Amino acid sequence: MTHDELQQAASDHLLLHFSKQSLDDLLVLERGEGPYVFDTKGKRYVDALSSLFCAQLGYSYGEEMAAAAAAQLTTLAFNTNWGTAHPASIELAAKLASVAPPGLDRVFFTSGGSESVEAAWKLAREHFLAIGQPQRTKAIARDIAYHGVTLGALSFTGVQRFKEPFGRPAIDVTHVSNTNMFRGPGGGPVTDPAAFCTMLLAEVEDAIVAAGPDEVALIIAEPVQNAGGCLVAPPGYWQGLRTLADKHGALLMADEVICGCGRLGEWVATGREGITPDLVSLAKGLTSAYAAMGAVLAAERVVAPIVESGAVFRHGITFGGHPVSSAIALKNMEIFERDGVLENVRELTPYLAETLGTLTDLPIVGDVRGDGFFWAMELVKDDENSTFDQAERDKLLRGYLPGRLREAGIIARADDRGDAVLQIAPPLVADKALLDEIVGLLGEVLADAGTHMGLAGSRAGATA
Ligand SMILES: Cc1ncc(COP(=O)(O)O)c(C=O)c1O
Repeated sequence: MTHDELQQAASDHLLLHFSKQSLDDLLVLERGEGPYVFDTKGKRYVDALSSLFCAQLGYSYGEEMAAAAAAQLTTLAFNTNWGTAHPASIELAAKLASVAPPGLDRVFFTSGGSESVEAAWKLAREHFLAIGQPQRTKAIARDIAYHGVTLGALSFTGVQRFKEPFGRPAIDVTHVSNTNMFRGPGGGPVTDPAAFCTMLLAEVEDAIVAAGPDEVALIIAEPVQNAGGCLVAPPGYWQGLRTLADKHGALLMADEVICGCGRLGEWVATGREGITPDLVSLAKGLTSAYAAMGAVLAAERVVAPIVESGAVFRHGITFGGHPVSSAIALKNMEIFERDGVLENVRELTPYLAETLGTLTDLPIVGDVRGDGFFWAMELVKDDENSTFDQAERDKLLRGYLPGRLREAGIIARADDRGDAVLQIAPPLVADKALLDEIVGLLGEVLADAGTHMGLAGSRAGATA
């Protein structure tokens, strides 16, 4: 189809995800090369979002991935993990267990993130049934967090406007404060992270007690919370969650659909916190998006009672652990090791933090936060870091930025599930030159965005 035919056919037939359905001049991307994608008019964009946090390797590993896929397709194109198995998913399960924090030995495969979150919940439920605690049916999650939107996962998601149209949540979840250190309890930046951490953990414990300590099955959180704009946890937070889960007999789950698979420089990011969660969800980067795949890593102690009781795990997904996806995921892990992908992220994180930090000179940038290759710029309307109101956010995030980013040839995410942010998540193979290119383009776009919103000058005199 030509450019115009694609536009017409998309408008007639393709239902878009999380988008208005009538977009003038839909961005249709038809080719990728390295960290760049090209639209149907041949315009090049640096994909500073790695296609929604997925394309860890960028777009130039197609031949290697295709060879891995072809070898699998010509050997065994498909079989399930329903009572049978195949070498690719078995080898991938063993490989994932070998890179996960010790104890996360069991792996259940899915086709994506929401499925991983729901499979983890079902494993938690089966665990508690097997150990004679069937009353544990509740969970604790965090405000504004996104854990998927299928009806089970939607219960954990803390973005009200995504939940309201769809009735009572399937799972009884209490949402507690997230780790927003830019807008702490007093409204301004947190100055005492230790005290903030203590306060947050006290709130989690209060929520457990209010729900009934013997009724809570799961605490779920992301290592760095995406929605709200790369909310990093204060030191000690994850150790605190681990302690609370153990104290009250609940399981602790890290939703690493974004943060895992190298985005923070580790296969399992919570490993850096010196604790091991009981359950970890992965997806997006597991294959670097060369195929659709997700996984749940589960601690042996979670699974053992189910195995010992001889019970059937009452859950299954036809394409979970698809052999072709598994072969591609194995190849992805091999490339990560061969090309030093995790090492690259760890080495360049301080550089990215520093260069992005220069953007706070712009009047519209109130905060730059994140970790690894996962960052957000919070956009504010003055030196007091006032938030934009709904009309201003519409004007900035939906009216101005998409077109200006497109014009500049960069893909980044303007979002306001929490306060207004612009997010980036560069491919994990990015070098300094590419990071400079990204930060340079962001600087141009955000300077113009400030002017567009009537902000002037630099933040030299900013109060925070
Ligand atoms: C932390 C987290 N969990 C779960 C999901 C849901 O994943 P999917 O869209 O693959 O179902 C997402 C998606 O962005 C996510 O960011």
